[in-house]
Amino acid sequence: MVRVITYGTFDLLHYGHIRLLERAKALGDYLIVGVTGDDFDKTRGKINVQQSLMERVEAVRATGLADEIIIEEYEGQKIDDIRRYHIDIFTVGSDWKGKFDYLNAYCKVIYLDRTEGISSSEIRSQRREIRLGLTGMPEDLLKFQRESSFVNGVTISGICTEELTEELPEVFRTLPCITDSYEELLKYSDALYILSHPSRHYEEVKTALEAGKHVLCEAPVALSAQQCKELFALAREKKCVLMEGIKTAYSTAYYRLLLLAKSGQIGKIVSVDATCTRLEDGRGNSPEQTNRSWNSLCDWGPTAMLPVFQLLGTDCREKQIISHLSEQDPFYDVFTRIHFIYPEAAASVKVGKGAKAEGDLIISGTKGYIYVPAPWWKTDYFEIRYENPAENKRYFYQLDGEGIRYEIVAFLKSIERGRSNSYVEEEVSQAIAGVIEDFYKRKDTREI
Ligand code: CTP
Repeated sequence: MVRVITYGTFDLLHYGHIRLLERAKALGDYLIVGVTGDDFDKTRGKINVQQSLMERVEAVRATGLADEIIIEEYEGQKIDDIRRYHIDIFTVGSDWKGKFDYLNAYCKVIYLDRTEGISSSEIRSQRREIRLGLTGMPEDLLKFQRESSFVNGVTISGICTEELTEELPEVFRTLPCITDSYEELLKYSDALYILSHPSRHYEEVKTALEAGKHVLCEAPVALSAQQCKELFALAREKKCVLMEGIKTAYSTAYYRLLLLAKSGQIGKIVSVDATCTRLEDGRGNSPEQTNRSWNSLCDWGPTAMLPVFQLLGTDCREKQIISHLSEQDPFYDVFTRIHFIYPEAAASVKVGKGAKAEGDLIISGTKGYIYVPAPWWKTDYFEIRYENPAENKRYFYQLDGEGIRYEIVAFLKSIERGRSNSYVEEEVSQAIAGVIEDFYKRKDTREI
């Protein structure tokens, strides 16, 4: 029996894929198809894959051509697979010619002619482009703009700013819409990315949703739990997507550690401790600047609270917010520390723009702990540590663009599918807004 193997992403399965599978099958008696896993695709730079792994596997299965389907998850797996499945022939399309010659040491390698005129990328690029409007301080929006250029299916349509066109960073000067009117920006956009001051989020998100526009709003979406709830309800009513932007949620390493922690790898979780700090570059010094500048809790709080609420849940029994406030602005916290008490766990977060600390994340469990070194919010690496160091495990993942480009992909997918693909649950957004609300109301809060 001649055993054949082939690999591919098989996104939006098309005629070219089917022809390849037919010919691969005809090379032998038994065909194994390796479908690339989502994470592996990301590391190969294919961040725009439309369908989930499950959908792609199902599509390949439905062709009836594969005798067996496996998932390709890591670099170097092909050699393992060829040995493990006793493969005689490895085959792929001619676009890979020469790339897999090294596998000749293990089996026969055959490149099949690629079908002309069709590819997944082309089908993806035929989708209607989403016109995305930006609002916020132009220099803060640069990173987002750059990251959006890595994602197919989205174009920046305009920017809402009080700055004069000639003062704008170069990339923004040629946008179709440069305006100081938010309503004007909405006319040019199908969706909005909001990075304005948190005090404006609620109104801006509401106005956009009422106009039927999708919204990706940098956290916090609102400054009270009630307002946050209201906005998500409005989004549902208007059949629009509302996503809270916390880029860390989209980092592969973070997402993986959540799954590992939840699957009991460190036993029962008893404590989550997260610290995020960045010393301000002078923006927070004068009173009128502090008004424009995000305080420590709004800037870092959502990121720091994310693992707490995602791992321990949102109904903590008690909390205490301890803030050191700026002398010029009673709502600008130079640093804040929050303690959360759960029935059987505790958590603490430390955030600061006027104080520095080790920005790591530690998740403690009854069997071991997960350690994510600073800066944990944009990490590609973490460790699971046990009493016996010989059992420690290290995990590495590729992280491009601090998670922002994956966040944009998730936002577009949500729009296209008409259902949320957000990695930040609605109740987590609400819990975050609730803590920030308590800080402003001085509930459970002590000033120092
Ligand atoms: N393939 C082919 N003819 C095409 C497209 C793909 O023979 N017109 C083959 C590829 O050479 C590969 C397999 O189908 O062996 C899976 O390809 P994949 O990369 O999943 O599909 P593409 O359409 O090439 O995807 P993309 O545009 O994202 O690169």
